[in-house]
Amino acid sequence: MLNWIDTRSDDELAAAARDLFAASFPDAPEPAGVWAAPGRVNLIGEHIDYAGGASIPFALEQNTAVAVAPRTDGLLRIASEYDGSVAQASLPLSEVRPGHPSDWSGYVAGTVWAATAADVLTCAGLDIAIVSDVPVGSGLSSSAALECSVAVAAYELCHGKAPDDAARAQLAQACIRAENEVVGASTGGLDQNASLFGQRGKALFLDFATGAVERVPFNIEAQDMVLLIADTNAPHTLSDGQYASRRGIIDAVQSAAGHTIREIPDAVAFAATVNPADAELYRCRVRHVVDETARTLDAATALTSSDLAKFRRLMRESHLSLRDLYEVTTPELDSAFTAAGELGARMTGGGFGGAVIALIPRSAVESTAQAIYDAAASRGFPEPTFLVARPGDGARRLA
Ligand code: GLA
Repeated sequence: MLNWIDTRSDDELAAAARDLFAASFPDAPEPAGVWAAPGRVNLIGEHIDYAGGASIPFALEQNTAVAVAPRTDGLLRIASEYDGSVAQASLPLSEVRPGHPSDWSGYVAGTVWAATAADVLTCAGLDIAIVSDVPVGSGLSSSAALECSVAVAAYELCHGKAPDDAARAQLAQACIRAENEVVGASTGGLDQNASLFGQRGKALFLDFATGAVERVPFNIEAQDMVLLIADTNAPHTLSDGQYASRRGIIDAVQSAAGHTIREIPDAVAFAATVNPADAELYRCRVRHVVDETARTLDAATALTSSDLAKFRRLMRESHLSLRDLYEVTTPELDSAFTAAGELGARMTGGGFGGAVIALIPRSAVESTAQAIYDAAASRGFPEPTFLVARPGDGARRLA
């Protein structure tokens, strides 16, 4: 029996956040509102957001919701429901700093801290109850969903209105800073931009060289195609050394050149000169970045002209490059990629576990999911779970 991921409606999620708030903070007044932010799926443009590249993600219909009430004593109290139990944290905002708190509460506290430091908002304390439908550890950005839901809540409580796109760009920077400096995960800006700028029915073209965010129609249903997500359920974390080691090489090359990889004329040859002792490794890593950037620009054109056949070829090439040159796939991801038929399939997100996506005809959804399931079962891998993804709305107020 295939296992499909359940998703609550906006009303159900908001009610769950309110219930958790009431149970966790019986002494507090009613929450001032409930806000939500989605996870994201990245269609193409992987591991290049920190190299001046581009990505084409969309916001998922799966959200993290926060019920929030303001405080006046500088305290942040957080309750988070996860996997059937509730985790609590409480700390004065004045204690938030780089490296602290570095656990899950750092995503929340760090966002408020960074947005305050950037003068995007002021905050005298919050009570926050968190519930989520975004799968955790699946490469679908549950951490960005958490940061961005808190960001839009704190912004609206301070300014009395929802953030416009200019404010969303500032909030994205604050969320990135929270993740990089407070939690200590050296991720780029793909996830936070997708969660804040997403729009129902639209994919996003994010250009990290210019900071441009474009909402582009993603109407694959007109061609009877769907996007299947297969979560391999293999353990995944980005705060261990694997992501940082990939990024470390790219950062070293970029700082030696004084430019992003995208701006270096022959970046692959240049990379080899940065670390001659490890020239081949440097060449491979940078080759991925250069090719993936070109693929993503091609994919944007293909999407605009509804050329899904080309888009699917580019997705396959992206996976092969992430497997062979960037080495961020796992046996579970490669197995799902092969079982999905390769064309239109690829791993999504940071890798080292997480999910594979497949852009396939609607009629092939069940058989593709079954093939991925069977391949995992035959190799003794964890049982994958499935979702048909459609572009949903970005961070917003729910109630
Ligand atoms: C993670 C990071 C992103 C991006 C992707 C890989 O999701 O948070 O910034 O680097 O990996 O594309």
